[in-house]
Amino acid sequence: MPKIRFFGIALIAALLIANPAFSQNYDKDLVVKVMRQNGASLGPLNAAAGSKDFATAGEKLKLIAEGMESIKDFTPPKGEKASFKQTIEDFVAAANKGLAASAAQDQAGLQTAIAELRTLMRKGHGEFKP
Ligand code: HEM
Repeated sequence: MPKIRFFGIALIAALLIANPAFSQNYDKDLVVKVMRQNGASLGPLNAAAGSKDFATAGEKLKLIAEGMESIKDFTPPKGEKASFKQTIEDFVAAANKGLAASAAQDQAGLQTAIAELRTLMRKGHGEFKP
């Protein structure tokens, strides 16, 4: 029954494509939303670091890290999927360093972590932003 077999295969393929565990199609709307949230958080994060407002800095870092975590399995519109994931993992690690520095009220450590986030942003945009 070749017809039934064809539809069976097509159905399985459709299910696999729809399943995020098998294929993380790029969700542009979500990425743009996360990026805009990053953009809106970076200024207040910097200001908070400058004024030693460690609670606000921690909040902004958490927001940034959670957003980035939610997009790390996507296939980027440009560049390598594995490198995209690694860059985001490095980025989240830098955000976690900033969180630890905030908890320790370590301004210099927090500012070093923010500088790392900016470096990774430049890398990310150079490599993956269309
Ligand atoms: C604090 C860090 C970052 C900030 C403030 C930031 C900010 C932005 C902004 C404002 C946009 C334009 C969004 C729009 O169209 O309105 C953008 C786009 C983008 N960013 Fe970031 N970004 C950051 C980090 C990263 C990192 C680490 C990566 C990759 C690992 C990345 C990948 C991208 C990509 C792929 C786009 C294009 C989205 C699209 O139009 O499909 N960004 N980012």
